[in-house]
Amino acid sequence: MTSMSGSIPRTFIDDLLTRVDIVDVIDGRVNLKKAGKSYKACCPFHSEKTPSFNVSPDKQLYHCFGCGAGGSVIRFLMDFEHMEFVEAVEELAKSVGLEVPYEGGANKSRATSSKRLALHELMTQVSDYYISQLKNHADKNIAVEYLRQRGLSGKTAQTFGLGFAPAGWSNLTAVFGNDPGTVQQLIDTGMLIRKEDGRVYDRFRERIMFPIRDRRGRVIAFGGRIINDDTPKYLNSPETEIFHKSHELYALNHVIKSNSTLQNLIVVEGYMDVVSLADKGVNNAVATLGTAITEQHVQILAKQCDVIVYCFDGDAAGKKAAWRALENSLPYLKKGMQFKFMFLPDGEDPDTMVNQLGFEGFNKLVSQAKPLSDFMLERLLEQADYRTIDGQANLIEKAKPLLSKMPKGGFTNLMVGRLAKYVQIPEQDLMRQFNIEGAADFANRQLQRNTKKLKAEKPSPVKLAIAMLLEKPDLALTIEHVDELRHLLLPGVVLLHDLLVFIQTNPHITTGALLEHWRNTEDGQYLPKILNWEHHVPSVGVESEFTAAIALLYRQLKDQELEDLLHRSKIEPLTAEDKKRLSTLMLEVTS
Ligand code: GTP
Ligand code: MN
Repeated sequence: MTSMSGSIPRTFIDDLLTRVDIVDVIDGRVNLKKAGKSYKACCPFHSEKTPSFNVSPDKQLYHCFGCGAGGSVIRFLMDFEHMEFVEAVEELAKSVGLEVPYEGGANKSRATSSKRLALHELMTQVSDYYISQLKNHADKNIAVEYLRQRGLSGKTAQTFGLGFAPAGWSNLTAVFGNDPGTVQQLIDTGMLIRKEDGRVYDRFRERIMFPIRDRRGRVIAFGGRIINDDTPKYLNSPETEIFHKSHELYALNHVIKSNSTLQNLIVVEGYMDVVSLADKGVNNAVATLGTAITEQHVQILAKQCDVIVYCFDGDAAGKKAAWRALENSLPYLKKGMQFKFMFLPDGEDPDTMVNQLGFEGFNKLVSQAKPLSDFMLERLLEQADYRTIDGQANLIEKAKPLLSKMPKGGFTNLMVGRLAKYVQIPEQDLMRQFNIEGAADFANRQLQRNTKKLKAEKPSPVKLAIAMLLEKPDLALTIEHVDELRHLLLPGVVLLHDLLVFIQTNPHITTGALLEHWRNTEDGQYLPKILNWEHHVPSVGVESEFTAAIALLYRQLKDQELEDLLHRSKIEPLTAEDKKRLSTLMLEVTS
């Protein structure tokens, strides 16, 4: 097993996980309620009204039955707090007073992690500085007046931490000093620019400053809007070590903080739009940061909410951007997920719309947004004249790459059904053209799958044994002669063997720690799957199922050895020892 956890020794992580309690860690972040032996809450990783998020103190594991999220306490911190692995381990270690040992002395990932920490801290200070300038600078009135004229309340400005970068080229060095380390950090975060002659100057001047925060609320970049009519109108931080535009959504932390459940999540183009919407009470909008909507964006969005509403200008540029968003959303059209498109009248944007229509009026527009399928079909039909044969062929060609991006299933069938009406080709034939199984085939496959399921009712003893071990790791302590098991030639045996050995040497290990130990290993990918598998073994039956499965495996091991010896006896004379073993086995197996 190779260590994928950077250069923190696995043994340290195993040890760490025996000392922290997942319930303590999660309870500070999610409102847990005791329910029997475990704790419940509404899942923080997807929007829901009835709690399906479970935390098990016995297993040191969390799991959501709704969205399938789950894992150890480390996984939780990585997902919930958007931490890197090393950060999560550092945080947990700190909470129990342990120092993280790094292999190989002064270590790179530790250095990177503490460097990032320093950059985040500095960005918070820079943000505080800009906020203070909005309150105190001699020229603050031009900024305050600008915000007022744009209809923003002081409260909204405060919520979003809006600030003011005054005129001047060296405000930041005046405040933060000329220490080379700090200057370098200000350059690394994009706040200062170094000229060819080596001197530095402030990137943002005479602008309203919008701090850009990550999901955890840490300031990672800034957007600045010019107050006068200069260009560029907006200036954004460049890509830095802590800011990756194509992965970040402005105000996502605000949306998460201000909504316990989300009906829908609106995506707009400008951060001014987001702030303006929030000012009028629409607190479920995020913005991209001057880039098109990427697949990474969609992935993040789909994790937050089942209904995503893209809001674009009605002009040609807006349509084009919407199409990009559509293409990048297709892979995420899984069951229950909806993407909608909302186009604003020419010359309007969400900011001007909400100022005209108010909260109710704007939300009414949101509720009228076009389903993805409508938008897709409309655009396809605009590009090809379905009344001619050529146009129909063209339509099919244009649809092909789109359909191939969608996950197979109901939605694809629906789309093909709608296209079939325009090209006068029977739906089944079209399905075949697109290489998609038709409705009938689909039903057939489903049937096959169901019967297969019935046949497969008896799961493999290896899987069952592993599942029971995940329920109750200390069952491993009841097994002797674990090493022999390794010789059994069945899929999964090696993993089972390694689990048994590992638990025997770490008798108090929890399921969460096991998952963590095997995470990122080739075998480890099976553990969460087995954990999610509904084995229907009641908790009182766990031990006997395990014993029975292991007994069956040892029996199969003997069968295998017997067959092996019989086979060998046909090719070569057996040694006396082998012969003895053979007769013992014959007796045992046939008895
Ligand atoms: P207001 O004019 O203040 O109402 O802003 P807006 O949100 O209506 O601006 P617009 O629709 O023009 O821009 C939307 C987003 O595109 C902004 O939030 C920026 O991220 C980006 N953007 C706009 N103009 C510029 C620019 O000149 N330079 C850069 N780098 N980005 C821009
Ligand atoms: Mn605008």
